Amino acid sequence: METLHINIPSAPAESCPIFIGCGIFGEAAAGLPLDRYSSIAVITDGNVQPLWAEQLKGALPRPAVEIVIPAGERSKSIQTVTQVWRSLMAAGFDRHSLVCNLGGGMTGDIGGFAASTYMRGIDFMQVPTSLLAQVDASVGGKVGVNFAEVKNLVGTFQQPKAVIIDAATLETLPERELRAGFADVIKHAANRDRKHLEELAARDYAAAAPRELVPIIRRSCQIKADVVAAAEKEQGLRKILNFGHTVGHAVEMDSYVHGEPLLHGEAVALGMRIAAGLSARLGYLPDGEHDLLVEILERYGLPTRVPFPIEADDIMSKITSDKKNQGGSVKWTLLAGLGSAIFDIRIEENLLRETLAEIL
Ligand SMILES: NC(=O)c1ccc[n+]([C@@H]2O[C@H](COP(=O)([O-])OP(=O)(O)OC[C@H]3O[C@@H](n4cnc5c(N)ncnc54)[C@H](O)[C@@H]3O)[C@@H](O)[C@H]2O)c1
Repeated sequence: METLHINIPSAPAESCPIFIGCGIFGEAAAGLPLDRYSSIAVITDGNVQPLWAEQLKGALPRPAVEIVIPAGERSKSIQTVTQVWRSLMAAGFDRHSLVCNLGGGMTGDIGGFAASTYMRGIDFMQVPTSLLAQVDASVGGKVGVNFAEVKNLVGTFQQPKAVIIDAATLETLPERELRAGFADVIKHAANRDRKHLEELAARDYAAAAPRELVPIIRRSCQIKADVVAAAEKEQGLRKILNFGHTVGHAVEMDSYVHGEPLLHGEAVALGMRIAAGLSARLGYLPDGEHDLLVEILERYGLPTRVPFPIEADDIMSKITSDKKNQGGSVKWTLLAGLGSAIFDIRIEENLLRETLAEIL
């Protein structure tokens, strides 16, 4: 088992340990001061509960209350949070309790938000079981819910007390979800680490055994942790994590309208292709590097064209209504070479329209 630390600028005395390994629930839990909590809850979804909840509960120092929420993004709502609050209240949870979120990014966001608001905030721990959650959602301290059809509209910044990343849990993750998780791994590498990107190009790690993914997950988490430590909130450097998100969010929303929902990572892959295309057209990214990134996306079975009919105008209008825009102006995260993201770039409408044609 290995341990990374995220050092939080706003709370310098605190550091969030991230334990990474394969088959490590027991070892990681034993390394944390869990005895001090008055009660512990395990929040999980209906898919993950029968697969991994007993194993996690067996690693905890006291019997845990299990709270099971329905699987799927639809559950990421304030109604589900209300149910979690009620369950915590009914079980007599006080301020000295701990919540462990066992599942993908949806569970981590719901459980983290419920914990960060219950009694003005109780401790929580992330135990991510999807690749996306292991390399992205569980690291960084953002938690929240979708509201009024807007993704992640309501939420808080609250660091977990610890993150336990057990690659063994990926054994049961459906292959499409695993491949979509690689979009984030590729995103982190494209942003900050060209060598890591070349490693990903050399082999289809989505077909490897979970144990072999430990170094890949570790590197990806380290990249995210370094960015978060440098910029805890959404300013400055943290914006590089939005690489691929501008178009990704727009296409993801449209995929629901078309009844062919794309997974988040699949939509981000399309967004990365556009961001790389814009970077190349602006002369920031050599053509060979652009092509390598597209090849890597294809190698991991990620879409590089939108798999349903959509107009460039639809994408463009959704982009302008994205909540990350400031004062109505869209600022892009692009690449000034593989491994080197740049942010706050404005793009001419015509250039965007031309580049969008690559994925339509
Ligand atoms: N907080 C953040 O910083 C952040 C960052 C990125 C994404 N997110 C959020 O994360 C969510 C997406 O995460 P996700 O892709 O993990 O979604 P998810 O939690 O819905 O999980 C995807 C599917 O995989 C199943 N699953 C998870 N682990 C499994 C396992 N080990 N075995 C079998 N099935 C398993 C789940 O039940 C679900 O059906 C979105 O809500 C997104 O907004 C948050």
